[in-house]
Amino acid sequence: MKTLIVFDSVFGCTEAIARAMGDVFSRHGHCDVVQAGHMAAHYLEEVDLIVVGSPTRAFRPTPALVRVLRNLPPKSLTGFEAVAFDTRMDVSKAPGILRFMAGIFGYAAAPIARQLRRKGARLVLPPQGFIVGGTEGPVCDGEAQRARELAEKLSAPRA
Ligand SMILES: Cc1cc2nc3c(=O)[nH]c(=O)nc-3n(C[C@H](O)[C@H](O)[C@H](O)COP(=O)(O)O)c2cc1C
Repeated sequence: MKTLIVFDSVFGCTEAIARAMGDVFSRHGHCDVVQAGHMAAHYLEEVDLIVVGSPTRAFRPTPALVRVLRNLPPKSLTGFEAVAFDTRMDVSKAPGILRFMAGIFGYAAAPIARQLRRKGARLVLPPQGFIVGGTEGPVCDGEAQRARELAEKLSAPRA
């Protein structure tokens, strides 16, 4: 199985999740883990599964990640399986206004998933979120392990 993980990361948390998944995918085949700014068309060749992740910043993915998705030609992900993920704060512990706004505007993974579908990919999981400890992280205990388990599950043959 060939997997491509495209991520963006400001403080390193999303990169840590992407690389945790990448280690697992690499054991089951080939996996490229590429930061948004380094994305190039050749990474898409013969990909079976594309995993795209971003930090949630102001309820959205980063501009660099949005640009990568927007610049993909129409239908360029047709035949690909896809998963969208983000990193985010645990807003249940945040001030009420942020909790309220997160309830309305959500997190980065949902718009990523929408773009992946728009470019032709088939989403094999709902948008995934991994929790970080504060505005700058770090990744919360257990989240990297959860990412590895998710990658194991995605590496198993699907019906
Ligand atoms: C300017 C800024 C805006 C943020 N907005 C949100 C947000 O809307 N929702 C959320 O859950 N976390 C938010 N966060 C926390 C980020 O999600 C967190 O920094 C990110 O997950 C860390 O990932 P990274 O290390 O890959 O950059 C924000 C952080 C910053 C610095």
